Amino acid sequence: MTLSIRAAERLRALARRGLRLALQALWLGRHRHALDRVSLERVGGLSLVILPGVFNPVIFRSGVLLADAVRAELQRHEVRSVLDLGTGSGIVALTAQREGGASVTAVDIHGPSVCCARINAMINGCDHGVDFRQGDLFAPVAGETFDLVTFNPPFFEGEPTGPLGHAWRAHGMPDRFAQGLQGALSEHGQALVVLSTDGVQQAFLAALENRGLTCSVARRKRFLNETMTVFRLTQERES
Ligand SMILES: C[S@@+](CC[C@H](N)C(=O)[O-])C[C@H]1O[C@@H](n2cnc3c(N)ncnc32)[C@H](O)[C@@H]1O
Repeated sequence: MTLSIRAAERLRALARRGLRLALQALWLGRHRHALDRVSLERVGGLSLVILPGVFNPVIFRSGVLLADAVRAELQRHEVRSVLDLGTGSGIVALTAQREGGASVTAVDIHGPSVCCARINAMINGCDHGVDFRQGDLFAPVAGETFDLVTFNPPFFEGEPTGPLGHAWRAHGMPDRFAQGLQGALSEHGQALVVLSTDGVQQAFLAALENRGLTCSVARRKRFLNETMTVFRLTQERES
């Protein structure tokens, strides 16, 4: 029996998807116990308590990747103000505060995450340097602008349900983020956003480019089941 080229490609894509889902299931099974209880992580010089229902930046890897990119960015040049959207445990906000001494505002829609990030700020002696606010995306900082906006967004489209619901899923996030970002960047401001091949990466990049933002790669890491990229977003300036 001979397969057409298209059928063979479809079979290969199906096999790749099956392998990716199997790896994900294995990996989640291995870490599930840590998601239901309080865990402690020591990363990048920070001690972090992760409350149940709060995104673990070490287990899920994207938080550490974004924090590393933010640290490198702040070592390169001075940034006066940082907005960390979807702060979760606070890993990125606390890294920014520690590294650059910038004024940092951290926002999350999920009350327990804001509480967890506040606890971590206290543990790490950064509680006077970070302003935590609860709310939806840019709403709590309406009218303010920032030199650096950081975001590790929910990677999937849909209703946020169940434990970690807000960390994984949101409705229309790429468009809403792209729209809000324009008003939140200071004159030479930029954003660092981590996205994964396993999620709505293409929708994010399209929404950002449609709004005139330029996306380039700041940092990239390949894992068995996905590739995560920290994108640098800059605005075209009218001369
Ligand atoms: C993938 S987690 C990232 C957490 C943390 N920044 C990190 O890197 O480890 C996404 C975070 O965004 C928050 N979030 C989801 N939708 C949001 C929204 N509309 N406004 C603000 N925060 C939101 C979630 O509650 C969650 O804490």
